Amino acid sequence: MIERLSTGISEIDGMLKGGIPRGFTIAVVGEPGTGKTIFSLHFIAAGIKNGEKGIYVTTEESRESVIRQAEMFGFKFRDAVRRGELIIIDALMGEHGDPWSLRELTVEELISKIMDAKRTLGYGHARLVIDSMSAFWLDKPAMARKYSYVIKRRLSKWDLTMILTSQYAVTTSLGFGFGIEHVADGIIRFRKKIMGGYLRRFLIIEKMRQTDHDKRVYEIDIVNGKGIIVKGPYNATREDIMLPSSVIRKIIQAQLKKEQELSSTDIEELDDNV
Ligand SMILES: Nc1ncnc2c1ncn2[C@@H]1O[C@H](COP(=O)(O)OP(=O)(O)OP(=O)(O)O)[C@@H](O)[C@H]1O
Ligand SMILES: [Mg+2]
Repeated sequence: MIERLSTGISEIDGMLKGGIPRGFTIAVVGEPGTGKTIFSLHFIAAGIKNGEKGIYVTTEESRESVIRQAEMFGFKFRDAVRRGELIIIDALMGEHGDPWSLRELTVEELISKIMDAKRTLGYGHARLVIDSMSAFWLDKPAMARKYSYVIKRRLSKWDLTMILTSQYAVTTSLGFGFGIEHVADGIIRFRKKIMGGYLRRFLIIEKMRQTDHDKRVYEIDIVNGKGIIVKGPYNATREDIMLPSSVIRKIIQAQLKKEQELSSTDIEELDDNV
């Protein structure tokens, strides 16, 4: 039996047939603001709740920002850090004298810092989040796949289950081939769409080795005090391709008006001809 780890969101655990297999490297991908960071916070919080240790590497937000965002959903990261259950490696601020910051955004520095953190947390399994990986190949996107592979390989003996986030939905569109997606054991993709003048969010499990996972698109929401909630499977309906009803009404009205004008000139022409 594969041991599975809760993501912290029971509906997503259900989609994954129990959760993320222990030891897996998961790519969490999606455009900005889709929920990758918040999903990662759930994952770490679920581990802490279960007595597992956590390592969270933040590259786009400061440690304080991560703690505050987690706090909004009731995850007490500051306490977990104090109790020695969680280490937040700040790769953004890099403050002098802070042992858990990265001086340079290099893969080597990242790996050695993660190993230090794992040693400090002690024996046993730990959950690791690197949010985001994109920062490490900003100036060399062609290295995405290699760097992802190096990280997975070098950390493979450290009893970690990893979430690596990436903003680039499809790196192939840039002509560099896939990044973390090929190297990862699983891919969870977040999407957003403006529909009816409203921002809606979706999630799909695109890949999960050794798992007969759910293949449907799910609509999700991010709710203050709770975090990610799953609204249910999303059926692609006419709504997807249809314009907002107010726009449709205007088009129909314009069409009708045109027809009326046309028919009245037709009648006038007829009158003239008679
Ligand atoms: N307390 C809150 N209550 C409700 N929604 C929130 C709250 N905090 C954040 N959000 C929503 O979550 C979004 C951010 O989600 P998240 O940080 O997970 O995105 P992301 O995919 O990591 O984006 P990026 O790639 O830019 O890091 C915000 O834009 C906002 O819509
Ligand atoms: Mg983020």
